[in-house]
Amino acid sequence: MRRPYAFLASAFVLLAGCATGDVSPASTPPAASPATSAPTDAELPAAAGPERIVAGSVPVRPAQPAMAASFRADLVADHCVDRDVPAPSAVDADLVILDRTYALAPGAVPPDLDAATAAGLTGSSGTKLVRQVLTEDLAAMAAAWRQAGLNVIVESAYRSYASQSATFNSWVARLGYGAALARSARPGHSEHQLGTALDLTSPGWGGRFGDWAAESPEGAWMAAHGWEYGFVMSYPAGSQDLTCFSYEPWHYRWIGRAAAAEQRASGLHPRQFLERYVSG
Ligand code: DAL
Ligand code: ZN
Repeated sequence: MRRPYAFLASAFVLLAGCATGDVSPASTPPAASPATSAPTDAELPAAAGPERIVAGSVPVRPAQPAMAASFRADLVADHCVDRDVPAPSAVDADLVILDRTYALAPGAVPPDLDAATAAGLTGSSGTKLVRQVLTEDLAAMAAAWRQAGLNVIVESAYRSYASQSATFNSWVARLGYGAALARSARPGHSEHQLGTALDLTSPGWGGRFGDWAAESPEGAWMAAHGWEYGFVMSYPAGSQDLTCFSYEPWHYRWIGRAAAAEQRASGLHPRQFLERYVSG
């Protein structure tokens, strides 16, 4: 059985606490280079709306923790301020919150990373690292892609703290520090460090400024069906106040099938949903 993984959250939090202390300001921004024009959230079309959940259509994940009755009052209210606070532990490590305030420690590395070939992915997609805990769901989703005649490419999956640092710096070089903050997580703050996030794309769609969900059959399929395999779009359109990041129709985070179905049925934004799983 794949569950539970609560120990991982504790490990991440412990590591984060050791490495970063409580609250420290983000480092001084480097000089900005000339910014290219990126669309704002308002310029991007909304993602596909929620679909009705058919009772019994989604396999129930065992050991699913109960949703708390209310939001945690002790989470910081200003979570989009750039600082490094150890991520609060979650009742399930797959549901840990990361944003521009809450972070993982540099040394937080998932214990069960494996090449995505284990999920039957081939080519460059197969070389990407993901946690074994999601292999079964990713394999099922990839089979559904093939059955639907879709060609979904995993462009990025697990990124170490160092790799995220390089990614963030490349966005700073491209957009300038201020604009980069809305598109790329500072190291420690990326869901990619969890080993459960995927950046997806499809042949012929080269953008990171366009709307993959609206502009490709692969992106539309993910918006409609990703949750059936446990994958949730972390940064939907028009919700930057909650997510801290601009719309990313290509970025999906695995939270497990039952949680993804529960999130969808709840009508809560993914961020609000995760807040209900912060442990005491
Ligand atoms: N682009 C997302 C926010 C990341 O860097 O993890
Ligand atoms: Zn991503």
